[in-house]
Amino acid sequence: MENITKSTGETKKLAFEIAKRIKNGDVIALYGDLGGGKTTFTRYLVEGLGLENRVQSPTFVVARKYGYVNHVDLYRLTSKEEAKDIGIEEMISDEESITVIEWPEIIEDLFPRKAVKIYFEYIDENTRKITIKNLH
Ligand SMILES: Nc1ncnc2c1ncn2[C@@H]1O[C@H](COP(=O)(O)OP(=O)(O)OP(=O)(O)O)[C@@H](O)[C@H]1O
Ligand SMILES: [Mg+2]
Repeated sequence: MENITKSTGETKKLAFEIAKRIKNGDVIALYGDLGGGKTTFTRYLVEGLGLENRVQSPTFVVARKYGYVNHVDLYRLTSKEEAKDIGIEEMISDEESITVIEWPEIIEDLFPRKAVKIYFEYIDENTRKITIKNLH
C-alpha cells in the first residue's frame, strides 16, 4: 500500500489507521532515509494505540518502552550481535508487545515472517511517500 502524505497531520492519520490494524506480538520495521519520518510515525502510532505520547528519537538509548510498545533504533549499532545484546530477540518474540524498529537492516534475518515493513521516502519538506508491506 502506497501513501503520499503532504503534512505530518496526514502521516498522523495514516499511523492512527495502522494502529487499529496491528496487534500484540507484531513487529513493525521502519525503513528509509534520515528525516524520513520514522520516529514521527512511531509517535503517532503510540498515540493512536492510546498510550502515553512522549516518543523521542531513541538514537542514543537504542530502545525505549511506551506501555506495551518497544521502540528501537538500530542506527548506531553495527552488528546483529550488538542488537542481540540489547535484547532484540526477546522483544520481537514477545507476543504481548508490539516492537517498532528503525534502521532494522542488520537484524532482518531475525524477523518473524509476518513482520510489517514500512518504507519512508523524502519527497520534499512536507511530503513523504510511505509504503506499507505485509500488513495483515
Ligand atoms: N509528511 C510528513 N510526514 C512525517 N514527517 C514529516 C512530514 N513532513 C515533514 N516532516 C518532518 O520530517 C521530520 C522527520 O523526522 P523523524 O525524526 O521522524 O525522521 P526519522 O526517519 O526518524 O529519522 P532518523 O533516521 O534520523 O531517525 C520531522 O521533523 C517531521 O516534522
Ligand atoms: Mg528516527
